[in-house]
Amino acid sequence: MPAPQKDTLNLVPFVSVDNMMKLILSIGVEEAIEGIAAQIEADFKRWESFDKTPRIASHSKEGVIELMPTSDGEVYGFKYVNGHPKNTKEGLQTVTAFGLLADVYTGYPVLLTEMTILTALRTAATSAVAAKYLAPKNAKVMAMIGNGAQCEFQALAFKRICGIDTVRLFDIDPIATDKAEFNLKDSGLKVVRTSSHQECVSGADIITTCTADKQCATILTDNMVGSGQHINAIGGDCPGKTELHGDILRRSDIFVEYPPQTRIEGEIQQLDPDHPVKELWKVMTGQEEGRTSEGQITLFDSVGFAIEDFSALRYIHDVIKGTPFYDDLDMLADPDEPRDLYGMVRRAEKSLAAAE
Ligand SMILES: NC(=O)c1ccc[n+]([C@@H]2O[C@H](COP(=O)([O-])OP(=O)(O)OC[C@H]3O[C@@H](n4cnc5c(N)ncnc54)[C@H](O)[C@@H]3O)[C@@H](O)[C@H]2O)c1
Repeated sequence: MPAPQKDTLNLVPFVSVDNMMKLILSIGVEEAIEGIAAQIEADFKRWESFDKTPRIASHSKEGVIELMPTSDGEVYGFKYVNGHPKNTKEGLQTVTAFGLLADVYTGYPVLLTEMTILTALRTAATSAVAAKYLAPKNAKVMAMIGNGAQCEFQALAFKRICGIDTVRLFDIDPIATDKAEFNLKDSGLKVVRTSSHQECVSGADIITTCTADKQCATILTDNMVGSGQHINAIGGDCPGKTELHGDILRRSDIFVEYPPQTRIEGEIQQLDPDHPVKELWKVMTGQEEGRTSEGQITLFDSVGFAIEDFSALRYIHDVIKGTPFYDDLDMLADPDEPRDLYGMVRRAEKSLAAAE
């Protein structure tokens, strides 16, 4: 990370939602997902250089608010994120987020950004990177159950990174499927609308479950899953919030991000605490095997881990350089004499008085 200039230490680059949209459109949505995916893969391959902790969750009856920190010793990052499945009925997003990167040497923040859009991009990128290692070779068809905010990002990531050409859509709310079908119509994907969970998964090589419900739901039952498929389960990500029937888990080889967090939050909360799982980073570094046979069911039990957000923040920090897509936020009090914080406040009072 380049040393900050002394005279601009108070200023922190800030990426608003408006600028995030402009930035991503200027890069290309699929290209941005691919760039974030490359950063995630590179960071997973150096997994051991990171501080890791399960995210800090504050649960309520309506949802959850979480903090997701990590550091590689040079750069520190965290994300604030919520998950409130009831929100869409009130015209609000289920998931909103923002995040920050800081220089470990000074402790000074170097980026503050919206992360609602960025979370959708990084979740899609992580899912597709996992599938690159785990999905059947030449997978072409993905079933997408849950057509909410994450849906189109997932579809585009799997097209770009895994080469799928068809997405089969299903949501219990047809308005969500209308929206996804419309948004994906010029994506280059063949979009097939289906009318049930069962119909949606028919003929699919990859099944993505991406629903939001504050309960242990059963989006997939065992009879819906044949053999040889890859399941990308992203909606079960909180205690008491799962999507798959336990029998599917017992038939699958399960791959996770960070076991201490996934055991609390993922589909595997339904299993014994010592049920075997493989860590994705070990598959990426060749320490564990991914898919080993055609008939195997692979399951990515995704909950979302802090390193993925760190990678996405690093990506944004890199790509905003030289663009107009950020504002300098006067966020850090930085008096000329570091200990004269009070004097700085008093001098501001004098200049305010002079201005009146
Ligand atoms: N694993 C991760 O890293 C990660 C990241 C982001 C979001 N998520 C989770 O992914 C899920 C989806 O997020 P979102 O932002 O798209 O939410 P969203 O509320 O925008 O969309 C969820 C959709 O699921 C549909 N749905 C609910 N129950 C269903 C069912 N039984 N069958 C079919 N469809 C059903 C809803 O109608 C809605 O359209 C949430 O649970 C969220 O917490 C996980």
